[in-house]
Amino acid sequence: MADNERAKYLSSNWRDGIFAGKVVFCTGGAGDICSAQVRALVYLGADACIIGRNVEKTERMARSMAESRPEAKVLGFGAVDVRDYDSLKSAVDRCVKELGGIDFVIAGAAGNFLAPITQLSPKAFRSVIDIDLIGSYHTLKATLSYLERSAAKHRSDGLTTPSKGTGGRIIFVSATLQYRGIPLQTHGCVAKAGIDTLSAQVAIEFGPRGITSNIVAPGPIAETEGVKRLARVEGLDGDLSRIPAGRFGSVKEVADATIFLFADTGSYVNGATVVVDGGSWRTQGVSDSKAFPYPGFLLSRNIDDNAQYTKL
Ligand code: COA
Repeated sequence: MADNERAKYLSSNWRDGIFAGKVVFCTGGAGDICSAQVRALVYLGADACIIGRNVEKTERMARSMAESRPEAKVLGFGAVDVRDYDSLKSAVDRCVKELGGIDFVIAGAAGNFLAPITQLSPKAFRSVIDIDLIGSYHTLKATLSYLERSAAKHRSDGLTTPSKGTGGRIIFVSATLQYRGIPLQTHGCVAKAGIDTLSAQVAIEFGPRGITSNIVAPGPIAETEGVKRLARVEGLDGDLSRIPAGRFGSVKEVADATIFLFADTGSYVNGATVVVDGGSWRTQGVSDSKAFPYPGFLLSRNIDDNAQYTKL
């Protein structure tokens, strides 16, 4: 039963204890995706602190994560809004006081809704920019000194696995919708494009101090608030043909990408984006062609009939 539960959050190839003695700090940690990322790290030995706006939801999620592994310590601080720097900084300081430091950060807090520009008040636009982009910056700013400290202790030479493990790493949770643009998501696309650039800047300025900064960009992930909202706009409700993998992703697949970036496997990955979308956003170049319908045509016997390609 316990193994079945664990398999929902991480693949079986990761070694137990790789994050032992490490602390992860995560904003938006009670959400569908971020909670899975943190839970996977807790399974592998990390202690954690998650923050969120909703007190009950955040504390309940922290208790549930703490049950993933005996001895795990998971703090849940509710009533913390990433838009309020002072409140976020207090949460960071409390985390360090209670857990001893911060080795990994996941900036995951986000807010979204569907609205065309005509229905997007200045305050509505600003709310999403404030939560997603400014909130990510606040998270970085509030945790940076601890990340620097951890990075200094965990330098990798690229040849041997660091004896003290890894540390000094930040992941910003972004998206893929800003790559191609999408109606009703101007606020979301602008915010996520900013986050992508923020992460790259951190890689450039803090890479020399041993910090890595990367983006995890989830695509259509099953049973998440994001996909429930966006699948309708992306034409994925009831039609998965635009996803090359032919299915929605799972939160486990996003958690695996997170482990990859935080573990020794990610030591030389900096300023990068790990897209976890089954190839989905790449299908922007796929037309609704009747002659070559996607993906059926690629799977058909007809594919090797060269004559059809030369017809004008
Ligand atoms: N369409 C258009 N405008 C909307 C909207 C919608 N569906 N939902 C909220 N807004 C507007 C509000 O009307 C308000 O603007 P106004 O006062 O000029 O009318 C503005 O957004 C702020 O709303 P408010 O409820 O005060 O903001 P908040 O700070 O409490 O909430 C949001 C932030 C708007 C992002 C809200 O959707 C939210 O809290 N989301 C959190 C959960 C979430 O979206 N998670 C997604 C993860 S993918």
